[in-house]
Amino acid sequence: MRKNNRRQMLGTFGLASAASIASMMGSFPLSSSAADNTMPEMNAWKWQPIDPAAATQRAYDIYPDGGCMYAVFGSVMTLLAEKYGVPFSTFPTAMMMYGAEGCFYGSLCGAANGAAALIGLFNPGLDLKSRREAMIQEIFAWYEANQFPSWKPMNPAFDGELPTNASGSVLCHISMGLWCRTAKKSVGSPERKERCRRLSAETAQKITELLNRAVDPECKFAGLPSATTSCTLCHNPKGQSPTSTTSMRCDACHTMLKDHPSE
Ligand code: HEC
Ligand code: HEC
Repeated sequence: MRKNNRRQMLGTFGLASAASIASMMGSFPLSSSAADNTMPEMNAWKWQPIDPAAATQRAYDIYPDGGCMYAVFGSVMTLLAEKYGVPFSTFPTAMMMYGAEGCFYGSLCGAANGAAALIGLFNPGLDLKSRREAMIQEIFAWYEANQFPSWKPMNPAFDGELPTNASGSVLCHISMGLWCRTAKKSVGSPERKERCRRLSAETAQKITELLNRAVDPECKFAGLPSATTSCTLCHNPKGQSPTSTTSMRCDACHTMLKDHPSE
């Protein structure tokens, strides 16, 4: 099917070179015929190495323009575009503003969502499903355990002291709420905004390191922490209790009941 698409495109564009066709396909990922639902050409979207420290700073700098998801995704994409050009320069990065504040719904943290979107873009298709899952698990589990904010910019927009705590959950509502309780600040405070801005910068660094490392097809990923696997051992679709499928940190929401089954 891919070959057909390519041939149709070559027919349409006549003399254009194969390389420019490849880049056009990057900028027009949907097929030209509305009825043709084949997978878009993804070969143009190959990960290329970039500097994690540059992504950290870039995410911090662009955060005010579009929020957490935009900062994480946009930092990486703008650096790729500056260094490698097409197709990275064609990506509609502004779409990632939808993810701010857990899609304005307090659900999945946009920084985590932006990192997962990058994993999806550079590891597409059914064949790479388990690789995507392993990479997302690594970064989400890191996010749950990491003490935010632990990185301080050279010229911080807000220069006061910021307490740190483990986010505890990839959910915006919980991550933000636990921090606000620790810091005794409201969600609308400049301190909370600075915390999420630095959290986005640190997540941009982490996802860049992960994508750089994952270029090696033999790359191993961290897996879930024992706090989670001690529960998912039984609570998984094929386990003793197949009623739950989540890999989130269970203790963000559940406290163990005294009469909980033990074997
Ligand atoms: C040895 C297997 C096993 C392990 C390990 C395990 N569970 Fe369970 N859990 C069960 C079974 C069996 C039930 C009851 C039947 C069901 O809900 O499928 C249950 C029930 C539950 C329930 C529903 C209880 C209720 O009545 O509301 C929750 C919540 C739960 N487990 C959370 C956890 C968490 C969190 C962990 C890890 C700290 C954990 N479980 C570890 C087997 C296990
Ligand atoms: C964001 C909060 C949240 C997280 C994180 C979470 N749960 Fe739950 N879980 C719930 C809610 C809400 C329910 C439904 C109400 C209830 O049964 O307590 C539920 C229900 C359950 C049930 C009972 C399902 C049934 O049979 O009724 C189990 C078992 C369970 N969760 C296990 C887990 C395990 C294991 C983890 C971690 C791997 C986990 N949960 C993480 C919120 C959460």
